[in-house]
Amino acid sequence: MSDPTAGLRREGANALDPAEFIKANMRLAPVPSLPEIRLYLAHPGSGLRRLLEPDDDAKGGAEPQPPYWAYAWAGGAVLARYILDRPSIIAGKRVLDLGAGSGLVGIAAAKAGAREVIAAEIDSNGAVALGLNAQANGVAIRIRNEDVTDGPPPAVDLVLAGDVFYAQDVGQRMMPFLDRCLAAGIDILVGDPGRAWLPRPRLCLLGEYQVPDVGGNGGDEPRPSAVFALVAEPG
Ligand SMILES: C[S@@+](CC[C@H](N)C(=O)[O-])C[C@H]1O[C@@H](n2cnc3c(N)ncnc32)[C@H](O)[C@@H]1O
Repeated sequence: MSDPTAGLRREGANALDPAEFIKANMRLAPVPSLPEIRLYLAHPGSGLRRLLEPDDDAKGGAEPQPPYWAYAWAGGAVLARYILDRPSIIAGKRVLDLGAGSGLVGIAAAKAGAREVIAAEIDSNGAVALGLNAQANGVAIRIRNEDVTDGPPPAVDLVLAGDVFYAQDVGQRMMPFLDRCLAAGIDILVGDPGRAWLPRPRLCLLGEYQVPDVGGNGGDEPRPSAVFALVAEPG
């Protein structure tokens, strides 16, 4: 398989190579509740702060985004579990993993027989981790390291949104895009452990599981999490 991180490496003389950093400082391990999938996961000694852009802290005073991609989130884990247990939902379909983080949902979709998997993730280190994780699981995923929510609905049959309602501004960006996808005839599945910004009136419950949340080193208590279909606004 060709290098999945080619073209995603950050330029700059002093910058760390994210792919080398991830391989050296994270642990490739099965995801609790998803033993079929191995990911590069953070551990207490990973020192992920070293991976942030050297001048990130100085950019307009904005805090750099936390490395969400270094963990398996409960919303993604429940969605991945649901897909792996019901491959007929996915087999032969073109799928977008929206807010892919580590890529665990997209990897599950590929393992379940998706025809094509696209993973959209805005964090450039996340995009590198995603490529490494896809390679570690022997699946092909097309990575879009950009915010797709401004654009038109992609050419897919199904959007998988794992744990993307963790912040109000993120949820507010996602919903108009997801509505355009629904209007284009694309099905949408959401995985979530009941976070604050979940659009509950728009969701139809499909299944529930107990899955560990971020951290995932075996010590985290499982929490109830669910998979929903996003439905169009009535009227
Ligand atoms: C809580 S994490 C969940 C990651 C993964 N789906 C999981 O469940 O483990 C949410 C991810 O969405 C990404 N994200 C936020 N807004 C986004 C956008 N507009 N387009 C693509 N990714 C986005 C974040 O960078 C982050 O990695």
